[in-house]
Amino acid sequence: MTLIKLLQSQGFGTRRECRSLILSGLVSIGGQIITDTDADIDYQGLVFSVDGKDWQYRENVYVLMNKPAGHECSQKPKHHPSVLSLLPVQLRNRGLQTVGRLDEDTTGLLLLTDDGQFLHVYTSPKKNIAKVYRATVKHPLDKAQLAALRAGVVLHDDPDPVMAQSAIARDAHTLELTLTGGKYHQVKRMVAAAGNRVEALHRERMGEFELPADLKPGEWCYVDLYRETLLPRLPEEAGRG
Ligand code: URA
Repeated sequence: MTLIKLLQSQGFGTRRECRSLILSGLVSIGGQIITDTDADIDYQGLVFSVDGKDWQYRENVYVLMNKPAGHECSQKPKHHPSVLSLLPVQLRNRGLQTVGRLDEDTTGLLLLTDDGQFLHVYTSPKKNIAKVYRATVKHPLDKAQLAALRAGVVLHDDPDPVMAQSAIARDAHTLELTLTGGKYHQVKRMVAAAGNRVEALHRERMGEFELPADLKPGEWCYVDLYRETLLPRLPEEAGRG
């Protein structure tokens, strides 16, 4: 791949902007500045440097964020900043999208990617990807509420009961709820239908991914090795792409 195409693919701007970075001597590989925009670059496993910062070449990007409260999972947020504003411009330029959505006031694990296949697999209701939430609830939890959540509660937009894969009281006001669906405000509405009220909501896990304990609100990290680790476990999707 030519150097200019490589920079474009990694989110460094338009062809014109990438050309300018190269001709200004700001791009180097292995400590050597490259000023030839058409230099042929072997991009597998490549680490390159732009303006003194190192970047690893990534065909696709997978990001795991600890979503802070007060941020919307939207490209065009209405009332609060977008979670995308927490990422470097190079990632925003790649058109990252959130894998599903969390409410503005929900915190915790959020995946973002520019890989359409991954997005499809992880948001498809048919794939039954489990999401584990920790909800702080207003009233003490009781057995009837937990049983209702497990057996299924009826939400106003769907006649079929919606059930939790599991509902566990970690303490009187802390509910661990595992869901496979992705309906709008699903946790809050299910808990309300069971006779309680969510006061704070945090996502701890989604499918294979767990929020690292040391990732603070607003922080994010790359998730690598997705294709090697995940695709073989999703037989219908294996071999695609
Ligand atoms: N369910 C909710 O009610 N809100 C979220 O943000 C996620 C799941």
